[in-house]
Amino acid sequence: MSLDYDHLVQEDRVHRALYTDPAIFAAEMSNIFGATWIYVAHESEIPNPNDFITRKLGLRPVIVLRDANDKLRVLFNRCTHRGTTLCRHEKGNARAFQCPYHGWNFLNTGKLRGVPWADGYSSDIKDPKFNVAQVPRVESYRGFIFATLNEAAPPLLTWLGPITRPIDEWLDRNPGGKVFVCEANRFKFKGNWKLAYDNSSDGYHVIYSHRSLLEMENRLADESNKGMAYYKNSPDALPMYVQYMGNGHHFKDKRPNLQPRPGGLWAIESTHPGMEHAQDMFRAKYGERAESLLDLAGSEPVNVNIFPNLSLLGNHIQVFQPVSVDETDAIWYGTRIEDVNGDIGDALPTINALRMRTQEGFPNFGEVDDLANFEQIQRGLQCPEDEWIYMNRGLGLPDRIKHNPDGTITAPATDEVFMREYIKEWKKLMQARPELTIQREP
Ligand code: FES
Ligand SMILES: [Fe+2]
Repeated sequence: MSLDYDHLVQEDRVHRALYTDPAIFAAEMSNIFGATWIYVAHESEIPNPNDFITRKLGLRPVIVLRDANDKLRVLFNRCTHRGTTLCRHEKGNARAFQCPYHGWNFLNTGKLRGVPWADGYSSDIKDPKFNVAQVPRVESYRGFIFATLNEAAPPLLTWLGPITRPIDEWLDRNPGGKVFVCEANRFKFKGNWKLAYDNSSDGYHVIYSHRSLLEMENRLADESNKGMAYYKNSPDALPMYVQYMGNGHHFKDKRPNLQPRPGGLWAIESTHPGMEHAQDMFRAKYGERAESLLDLAGSEPVNVNIFPNLSLLGNHIQVFQPVSVDETDAIWYGTRIEDVNGDIGDALPTINALRMRTQEGFPNFGEVDDLANFEQIQRGLQCPEDEWIYMNRGLGLPDRIKHNPDGTITAPATDEVFMREYIKEWKKLMQARPELTIQREP
């Protein structure tokens, strides 16, 4: 069946099939989660030679690893003998992987090293066809590792384009411009993966969908507004904005709402257990330095959304992992910092503990509101006769949307221009005929 994407994606609306049709989902797993750069892991998760971590590239199970020569590789997690999952550990350090089924043994370069009772084979087991398949292109940008099966995809840096600016800014506020990825906080929802990506720069829903979180944060606050309280009046009149960054990426910048002073970020941090104690202790112990140290623990009010599966928000990294047309894993990774420049000293463990506890703000009490919405959309879309979903907020209003010289598009916080633009990119990718290839060691 060929799908008419020009009909399914229109200027102001998209067809429900984008979220419900298993054939479209199957096509996405090659045309998008295969043919574009997909975030697979962070370098800090595999810092040493022979470290590995198991992940997915679309639905393909993969092993992301650093080989003995420091080369990043993404191997299909599939034994070449009979196809079983080769590595069943979540992560570790290994020079070689032995298949649990019949014991074929592979170096972490993918090369078959040996098989049990090799004299039972007439064919040459040194034939490269027995080496594990791997993703031909793996590149990293400032620690974020991406992979694609498409030899014709542009270089990663070209693909990222202007979204590198907010990525850089998100990193550069930390010592040495670095974060280190911690363990995951795993959510899942019964809905299509694009529901999460559509929502990731949505400033229209905040005050309605997250009302209980906003009320709770501000009931407990004694001074300035906490969390996302700035949404409560006229969000479009505030200096925050949404920006479409090209190639499906988008960016929600709420930083202009903050007071530009040391401690300005910490002042709006959601209330969570233990924070007052740490704050009082920092102010007593470090004096003036306390405010900028507390800012290192605070959640940066940005959503840097890298199409199709990565989001940087607060001090967290979120990954959208499709499972099926109506199921998605939404995984949050905390990040910690290190005292790279030697000027944090004994405040470091408390800063990192506070960074983790910021999960008790939006990630735990706001994300669930969003996931509930995604599931309720998926449910609402089970009405086949009512075919369209609208993303027309802001469309056709003169002077509302600004086209910038670098090709990015800026709009007020509640505008849906970022959805309309990314879905155009989605359509372009779905209409393409990419050639996906694998590699094997010679
Ligand atoms: S399936 Fe891996 S050795 Fe048989
Ligand atoms: Fe939300």
